[in-house]
Amino acid sequence: MKGIVLAGGTGSRLHPVTIGICKQLAPVYNKPMIYYPLSTLMLAGITDILIICTPADRPAFTRLLGDGSRLGLTLTYAEQPQPNGLAEAFLIGASHIGDDTVALVLGDNIFHGHGFSGLLQSLAADVKGAVLFGYEVADPHRHGIGETDAGGRLVSIEEKPEHPRSNRAITGLYFYDNDVVEIAGRVTPSARGELEITDVSRAYMERGQARVVDLGRGFAWLDTGTHASLLDAGQYVRTLEERQGIQIACLEEIAMRMGLITPEQCYRLGAGAGHSTYSQYVMDTARAAMAGHRPE
Ligand code: DAU
Repeated sequence: MKGIVLAGGTGSRLHPVTIGICKQLAPVYNKPMIYYPLSTLMLAGITDILIICTPADRPAFTRLLGDGSRLGLTLTYAEQPQPNGLAEAFLIGASHIGDDTVALVLGDNIFHGHGFSGLLQSLAADVKGAVLFGYEVADPHRHGIGETDAGGRLVSIEEKPEHPRSNRAITGLYFYDNDVVEIAGRVTPSARGELEITDVSRAYMERGQARVVDLGRGFAWLDTGTHASLLDAGQYVRTLEERQGIQIACLEEIAMRMGLITPEQCYRLGAGAGHSTYSQYVMDTARAAMAGHRPE
């Protein structure tokens, strides 16, 4: 399965924070935002990942992440000059997807919860049609909203409805089979002028090929859309990290645990990355793995 992180857009709701840097590079506590969605793809077992960003932000992304080889990844970059909609990711990424299945994650979506990696890997192993991830929210008019039958099959989907038919938001992580490239090519711009991903999912729904996997109670899907929710997301990360002494979305640790790099390589990444608490954590985690201690 191929991966795409969509990290374009104007970030205008977070101005002036997002004038100098883009939203997906803004910090969520101790890491750039994009670390979190990137970690989601890595936890799904995906290593070949396209990052789509604006032309202006591309140098910053490449400076941060490079070609991914230090993490055992293959990272490539493509540009989306205008925010023409989320479904454009499949047109820009068509050659990257090739004849494979694809996971798209929005560069501002943060997922965290127990058992997430196992869930993602089992779903990624066999994608037919669309697999969407549902999350119960208190403010459904702000999201894509889906309804399912008792078997989890999608029966309705609407983008930011005025009168939501359910509280189940469709989160910014989407698994599609290879037909997505052709389906996205047929989507026409919505009233707000965008190629909506909701229309792509609806096309799968009409074929009876879209299902929704609910991320249950206790799972965190965090919003970063406003100054307040961005701060809340950072506080969430800080609280968990300080309480448990583990880091969320530490890419080096995940690469090591996924077997993409050795503990020795992981240690060297930490040692070569300055004096932050993040790099100290990378070294400590690698050292523990070398000594055979692997906290779950
Ligand atoms: O976060 C989940 C939601 O994401 C879904 O529930 C909605 O169905 C989906 O449409 C989307 O809604 P948003 O209101 O969050 O979409 P927004 O236009 O803010 O774009 C989401 C991110 O994608 C944002 O960081 C900017 C980036 N983006 C957006 C567009 C339209 C791009 O990179 N390119 C684009 O063309």
